Amino acid sequence: MRIAMVGSGYVGLVSGTCFADFGHEVVCIDKDPAKIEALKAGRIPIFEPGLEALVADNARQGRLTFTTAMREAVAGADAVFIAVGTPSRRGDGFADLTYVYAAAREIAASLSGYTVVVTKSTVPVGTGDEVERIIREAAPEAEVAVVSNPEFLREGAAIADFKRPDRIVIGADDSRAAQVMSEIYRPLYLNQAPILVTGRRTAELTKYAANAFLATKITFINEIADLCEQVGANVQEVARGIGLDNRIGSKFLHAGPGYGGSCFPKDTLALVKTAQDAGTPVRLVETVVAVNDSRKRAMARKVVAACGGSVRGRTIAVLGLTFKPNTDDMRDAPSLSIIAGLQDAGARIRAYDPEGMEQARPLLPEIAYASDPYDCAEGADALVLVTEWDAFRALDFERLRATMAAPVVVDLRNVYRAEDLARRGFRYTSVGRPS
Ligand code: UGA
Repeated sequence: MRIAMVGSGYVGLVSGTCFADFGHEVVCIDKDPAKIEALKAGRIPIFEPGLEALVADNARQGRLTFTTAMREAVAGADAVFIAVGTPSRRGDGFADLTYVYAAAREIAASLSGYTVVVTKSTVPVGTGDEVERIIREAAPEAEVAVVSNPEFLREGAAIADFKRPDRIVIGADDSRAAQVMSEIYRPLYLNQAPILVTGRRTAELTKYAANAFLATKITFINEIADLCEQVGANVQEVARGIGLDNRIGSKFLHAGPGYGGSCFPKDTLALVKTAQDAGTPVRLVETVVAVNDSRKRAMARKVVAACGGSVRGRTIAVLGLTFKPNTDDMRDAPSLSIIAGLQDAGARIRAYDPEGMEQARPLLPEIAYASDPYDCAEGADALVLVTEWDAFRALDFERLRATMAAPVVVDLRNVYRAEDLARRGFRYTSVGRPS
């Protein structure tokens, strides 16, 4: 199959590269000439484990190419994927579809022969209808079908998620288009990934429902963690105790500082908005959004409490800035609110992140950046673990203890064991577990 991927950002680049790796012929398109030049030269604009090697391999074999020339790429394609950004619109939180609709207009001008246009960007219910309307209006003669094929990959594990998905959802109201999509995903039959063919609107909603459900699961366990702290229970054991029930499942039950990232915050808000507009508010998700927002600031208060009630004039060492490990993505990272809260309380911040510091600098210009965890903790009055990078798991706490001004550790990801830290003379606080 010949595939054109419109948008070479996170989803477009990962999906395009994996499709090429399956043996399809893929052209990744982007408006940004600098990005395309970098990709041609083998430089990857995002941090994603394994991606650089996979891009290089498929580019070398000629299955993966990059261009800014939309017209040619679209004209030669059996399927054109729209994988452009859908940020939250300022003011109302609704997904901003400007880029999706602009892509649809440009695609319409370039179509030739039967083409399936696929929205892979996360788009609210009904967007496929509008994309189809735009294309039919601009190109009434074109033989085209518009399909929804939401993406469920996680940053940091994107290649594995793409190649071994739990399921593939294809929203196609037309059987010929469904056939083209099945052909594109044929390489996955071997892994027996279930392929669900649904109506287009159903597929669009499935994506939001999945992310909102996962966000709800996290928020639920976070509130249970708070309760555990008050009643002397252990949230990790509660999570295991409920997660072993197959109806609940053990994943996404890790209590922490609240969810962040480029998807959950944006998608929960967009679902809230869609549901309000449809006259059927999703009150549970509205609450999840509010609880998660306030949780991030509450984590700053937790640090202040661990420091004895005040951090004024103190230095707080923050380990991990990205919204989760194995990414350099700072979008809606809990670290941003936690650090702001600590600064408001008068603290000085010194931070270290293995991959995220370049992205963090413009967002957090007033903090100091360290060269490693030990440099970060030197002279600090408390060490706060915000993102659970593997490199922080086996820290030498004796070494840290020797250079810190006060032996305080606040572990917002429950990575360490209280007894280990106590043995090394630390005052230790975690989330929802006895200290
Ligand atoms: C999420 C979904 O997991 C993917 O399935 C989806 O495709 C993607 O959004 C998207 O819509 O594009 P991602 O945002 O990359 O993926 O990251 P997650 O691993 O889901 O983590 C999201 C946030 O939840 C992070 O801040 C993480 O620390 C937090 N989290 C996750 C918890 O606090 N506890 C958990 O148990 C799991």
